[in-house]
Amino acid sequence: MTALNSPFRGLGGIKVFAPATVANVVCGFDVLGFAVNAPGDEVVMRLVGKPGVAITKIEGDNGKLPKAAEKNTVSASVQHYLKYVDRTDVGVEIELYKKMPIGSGLGSSSASTVAGLYAINKLMGDLLTPMEMVPFAMKGEELACGYGHADNVAPAMLGGFVLIRSYEPLDIIKLPVPQGLYCAIVFPDVDVPTRDARQMIRKSVQLKDAVVQWGNVAGLVSGLFMNDLDLIGRSMHDVLVEPTRSILIPDFYKMREMAMEGGAISFGISGSGPSVFAFTRDEQTANVITQKIQQHLKTLNINSYTYVSAVNEQGPQILG
Ligand code: HSE
Repeated sequence: MTALNSPFRGLGGIKVFAPATVANVVCGFDVLGFAVNAPGDEVVMRLVGKPGVAITKIEGDNGKLPKAAEKNTVSASVQHYLKYVDRTDVGVEIELYKKMPIGSGLGSSSASTVAGLYAINKLMGDLLTPMEMVPFAMKGEELACGYGHADNVAPAMLGGFVLIRSYEPLDIIKLPVPQGLYCAIVFPDVDVPTRDARQMIRKSVQLKDAVVQWGNVAGLVSGLFMNDLDLIGRSMHDVLVEPTRSILIPDFYKMREMAMEGGAISFGISGSGPSVFAFTRDEQTANVITQKIQQHLKTLNINSYTYVSAVNEQGPQILG
């Protein structure tokens, strides 16, 4: 269905998809992320006569998300947007369709927030660029987990691989996407709230560990520019965050072993977990790895969900 003949548009509304994201990309805590084609969330948004922002429906959240406008990340970020563009006279109704798990480490809140911001910006006639909307999406992250990190919202909004070179001032750089790269994701259905997973990390680091880490971040970014999957793979090691967070993830090191033996070029935690991901050179290898890990988790009585995707270069998409 094209945007023009959409039933949503006919009613002064729009339907937008925004993608899940893998933040950190192992070595780049809070500064690197990329988007995937699936899963993702959908938002339907309509302009109404009465000023104000309201969530009228949420589906797929098992009742977990707040509907109050100032507490929900979608409506709250739309409120920030409307204030910034000086259009608090506008009335908006929002329906949120959660099509991905909450608390998975796949940027669930960010996918919803970005879909909402993309939708309102389209309805308002593209007043801002996607890059200019990232700070409003960061407000949503602040609400969701206590800190406005950009490594989920920026790739969800811009697509592809993204580097947050600096937070103050905000300086976001789009990076190249290597050809043939596939991502295998497994979400073990255990609870790891981002807020808690952030609090458990050490607040200071040793210089020798920092040297390892920034060497790896530079190596990964170089690998993306050089289209060098070997360099990308050997750079994806994290000595700062993973040793602590992996404790929360069932059989993390066994899953890594299985992925690497199955032909992955790298393996690590997606965002704050519990999802894990591997990069592979092709789709088939990614499929086999996700199936093997899923079977292994089953033997531990842990339910899991798997996703295989190329890197999503488009970002949000108008569905109708
Ligand atoms: N960089 C964030 C973290 C991503 O690791 O806490 C959360 O998805």
